[in-house]
Amino acid sequence: MCGIVGYVGPRTSEKALGVVMEGLGRLEYRGYDSAGVAVVEDDGVQTRKRAGKLANLQQALADAPLPPTATAIGHTRWATHGGPTDANAHPHRGGADGKLALVHNGIIENFHALKSSLLEDGVSFTSETDTEVVAHLVERAFGRTGDLTDAMREVVGTLEGAFTLLAVHADQPEVVVGARRNSPLVVGLGEGENYLGSDVAAFIGHTRQALELGQDQIVTISPDTYTVINFDGSPSDGKTYEVTWDAAAAEKGGYDTFMEKEIHEQPRAVADTLLGRTDADGDLVLDELHIPVEDLRAVTKIVIVACGTASYAGMVAKYAIERWTRIPVEVELAHEFRYRDPVVDERTLVVSISQSGETMDTLMAVRHAKELGARTVSICNTHGSTIPRESDAVLYTHAGPEIAVASTKAFLAQITASYILGLYLSALRGESYGRSAAEVMAELQGIPDHIEALLGTMDRVEEIAHFMADSRSVLFLGRHVGYPVAMEGALKLKELAYIHAEGFAAGELKHGPIALIEPGQPVFIVVPSPDSEHGLHGKVVSNIQEIRARGARTLVIAEEGDEDVVPFADEVIRVPRTSPLLAPLLTVVPLQVFALHLSTAKGLDVDQPRNLAKSVTVE
Ligand code: F6R
Repeated sequence: MCGIVGYVGPRTSEKALGVVMEGLGRLEYRGYDSAGVAVVEDDGVQTRKRAGKLANLQQALADAPLPPTATAIGHTRWATHGGPTDANAHPHRGGADGKLALVHNGIIENFHALKSSLLEDGVSFTSETDTEVVAHLVERAFGRTGDLTDAMREVVGTLEGAFTLLAVHADQPEVVVGARRNSPLVVGLGEGENYLGSDVAAFIGHTRQALELGQDQIVTISPDTYTVINFDGSPSDGKTYEVTWDAAAAEKGGYDTFMEKEIHEQPRAVADTLLGRTDADGDLVLDELHIPVEDLRAVTKIVIVACGTASYAGMVAKYAIERWTRIPVEVELAHEFRYRDPVVDERTLVVSISQSGETMDTLMAVRHAKELGARTVSICNTHGSTIPRESDAVLYTHAGPEIAVASTKAFLAQITASYILGLYLSALRGESYGRSAAEVMAELQGIPDHIEALLGTMDRVEEIAHFMADSRSVLFLGRHVGYPVAMEGALKLKELAYIHAEGFAAGELKHGPIALIEPGQPVFIVVPSPDSEHGLHGKVVSNIQEIRARGARTLVIAEEGDEDVVPFADEVIRVPRTSPLLAPLLTVVPLQVFALHLSTAKGLDVDQPRNLAKSVTVE
């Protein structure tokens, strides 16, 4: 939700603007309502900014080039305060002399009060944003202190809300100052140059050495130095680390879209998430779970908090973890959990699931859980992001950078990590559920090959998507672990193809939704394995017959060898056989591919669907 980049390096170099524009290209997934840059000269700061995608800014720079400088900052916006116009695009200028420029990710909650007092003092505004208020405040503080770091420190103390801020000033032309509270900011460390970015993708083409910042910290970079202080002025060291992936991972690698590439990276995402989590005997070893074993044994309830796709991973996890551990598991949307007085205590394990590790709703839920005394574990894909930093322990999903706004490989990696957590807890507590953890892990190790094979059979799904490009509504049914898969299939279609789509539990059909079925209504049905307990398979086959009898067009996702579905299916999409609890890692894949191709068939932007942003850092 907004991407920001900063750079400082050799004097009068073309590089500063080049680095920032390249970084904005890699961060555009975080917001694409407008983009802008500022470069710093000794006598002032120059900006270019345009509403719309980065291409518009590139054109503006081609029409009116900026000079070579040592220092530049840039921003790609997901609009909150003020519409997506040129005037509301960042960077914003502070003061009458235009010597300061500032970019911002987040929301300043008390901006109305701050703006009123600036207006009373005669300050005039050129935008409707909360950011411009901060730009004026920092400029005024600079007038008093003569130092950008001191000015930033003075101002952040007056701000409420979530923010990452970057500021530059012509009187200190080789300095960029960044500040963060509840929004992401990482530092990239180079030789004679340093970088700032919302995430490491911003500078991964230049350095893999990074510095993690803590909450409420200010960083000042110059070509040869960086310093970190806390908002109270005390010094801090920050934590350096090496990024384990390279620039190629953040590029399309021959695919038309990031989403297609990421769908094809799913075998690897699952395999890498499993890697290094078992010993030579196949027993699970989770060294990273820094919660005392006795506390984990004492857990009486698990609550999973997450949003969107990650919450569907949580719903899959519930079926598996309850089955394997016999601990009751609740799954709750993080934004609902936070504000309803949940029953949580020190024997509750709150598991958050988040690809970005920055989703504000999920972060707030984790903080609330900690206030209530719960132990917190984060399942996260982004090293050093806020949610894992604030949790008692983290299980990283090793899916690599996910750039497409619609989540795919992170979803599979989240499910995989949840299985690992469930099996580990089960082993700790000595639960027996008919199979050993080692047996389930061995089956999981085989899943990447199944996904690979499945991806090789998606031509028909692509054709179906093209036939269905004019559909106005598509329904998805599933049962047991297929239910969250149905919801995920519907979400993918809504966000990518802007088609009304709903996922239902198949058993719920007769309690209302069946009224939606009319001749020609397309319905995907995620059929449970014939090996499922309690006759679930047969019940869903009956549901298919019920909707087909009312004219639905049935698109059936079923295991290889499941012939019972054939007489009632308009289309059968086959997935490899697995044990029932692990099936979501396969059954969701055709639904992702379907949404991708339907969006493409409609000529839509697959990687950057309208109104969305990858990382939702506002509540
Ligand atoms: C949908 C999607 C979103 C995210 C949700 C949570 O394709 O990507 O629903 O799953 O915004 O994001 P994270 O996982 O970053 O917390």
